Amino acid sequence: MKSTLHKTQNNLREKTRRAMIDLLNQQLADALDLGLQAKQAHWNVKGPNFIGLHELFDKVAEELEEFTDDIAERAVELGGVAHGTIQTISKNSRLKAYPLDLTSGKDHVAALSGALAKFGASARAAIDAAAKHGDADTADLFTEVSRGVDKLIWLVEAHTQSKQ
Ligand SMILES: [Fe+2]
Repeated sequence: MKSTLHKTQNNLREKTRRAMIDLLNQQLADALDLGLQAKQAHWNVKGPNFIGLHELFDKVAEELEEFTDDIAERAVELGGVAHGTIQTISKNSRLKAYPLDLTSGKDHVAALSGALAKFGASARAAIDAAAKHGDADTADLFTEVSRGVDKLIWLVEAHTQSKQ
């Protein structure tokens, strides 16, 4: 199904814009899902590292919110429609459903760092896809997202990288 394309004076070719809008909406669904997963971890984590993890998971959600806003707005800048409803997220996200029964910091760290890594890999692939289509700006946006997600992976998985 061809999605709506608004007229724009943006001089990227229509074919490129259509491909980028689809790419951006796919990443948007994944990123919105991921942001909710971080909130799920923020709300439900318990244990000796509670306060540090509770606050860290909220910071992850906040940073992802900035990325989702940039991704959604780029789709609209290119003449597209941002697909940010809960129904589209649920239908299109490629992430695994976040488990509802996790309690310990260790389990939330494992689940969230895994989800971040999956999204990070797709954001890195999106850089190449955008560059291949000749859209350096979308490639740059995904470069920023990818670099940011790499940092978030570190902040979360550092909790598992020491024996003590
Ligand atoms: Fe909160």
